[in-house]
Amino acid sequence: MAESMADRFREQAEACGELGSPMYAELLGRAADDIEAGGAVAVVLAGHEHDPGPSALALRLAGSVHRLVLERRAGALAAFYPSVGGSWDLAGAWPAFESLLDESAQQVQEWLDRPPQTNEVGRSGALIGGLLRIGESTSLPVRLFEIGSSGGLNLRADRFWYRHRDGFQWGPSTSPVRFEDAWSGTRLSASPSLRLVERVGSDVSPVDVGTTQGRLVLTAYVWPDQQVRLERLRAAFEVARQQPAQVRRADAVSFVSDLELVPGATTVLWHSVMWQYMSPDDQREVSEQIGRLAATARDDMPFAHLFLEPTRRTPEAEIEFLVVLELWPGGGRRVLGTSAPHGLPTTWD
Ligand SMILES: C[S@@+](CC[C@H](N)C(=O)[O-])C[C@H]1O[C@@H](n2cnc3c(N)ncnc32)[C@H](O)[C@@H]1O
Repeated sequence: MAESMADRFREQAEACGELGSPMYAELLGRAADDIEAGGAVAVVLAGHEHDPGPSALALRLAGSVHRLVLERRAGALAAFYPSVGGSWDLAGAWPAFESLLDESAQQVQEWLDRPPQTNEVGRSGALIGGLLRIGESTSLPVRLFEIGSSGGLNLRADRFWYRHRDGFQWGPSTSPVRFEDAWSGTRLSASPSLRLVERVGSDVSPVDVGTTQGRLVLTAYVWPDQQVRLERLRAAFEVARQQPAQVRRADAVSFVSDLELVPGATTVLWHSVMWQYMSPDDQREVSEQIGRLAATARDDMPFAHLFLEPTRRTPEAEIEFLVVLELWPGGGRRVLGTSAPHGLPTTWD
């Protein structure tokens, strides 16, 4: 029998609980009961009963409501959202949530067709570690290119501050983006020469963090009781104001097909948690393009492919969030370490 919308909300509630949002675990669980009772949630979601599971309807609804809270358009509900200074309490929040769906149904529905989109700044901890590893074998300046950039915040990874559990620190100490517990395992080299001379990202649906709307999109899909992630995101918006980077509207295949290496610089193509969103054909094509670039690499124009993606060390191994580096000329595929899904901490092999 097909899974019901209420079942999918309960699954999502459970996942939120496991991934650190007790608030959404309760809210989406209560919403599942409401769907079964034909209440306000069922009414606002009418027509979405057969949306496919991976479209994450529960997170679409939650994100849509959260953005109304952030815009101060959700009335009494804001008092229960920690992201705007409230404190969560299901018993108090539920009547306000129901009223919002009743009174602002159209505004809530406006965002239901939008896929939840995030830009996880914590993944910078994994990606920048790969750049430091590259810096161990070449001191050339870096041209950084990214696919699936979302808002392009990780293109500013060298502008954030990181600390290893052993006390080693890297990055500008005055940065508002601070990762106290970024790394463990093997110590990285300081690579003082790391210098980014180009930062260009791409996404099929780029988010412009220079606009209020863009910042709202990326904030709305962070779970409202995850204060650390929210603070980190807001701090990264500040860094983005100071450090420009370009994010083009382009799919990964066309973006990588247009890339060329240039002498006197290391060209790095990196990505995090985007590979699974490409079709198998696109994955194959991007891999072929990476092969084309690798074949033209020389000592005076190296090429690196660096990623943090859910993948396997060997075909039989469990899926892990691995940091992997391929560096040409010469280098093979090297697993550098393992991360948590949101990037923090990264444990270096
Ligand atoms: C889960 S987000 C990760 C964003 C960012 N890399 C990070 O780690 O925070 C995946 C991103 O990939 C983008 N995306 C999906 N398919 C794509 C494709 N074929 N080409 C380029 N970007 C794509 C999505 O729009 C989304 O912004």
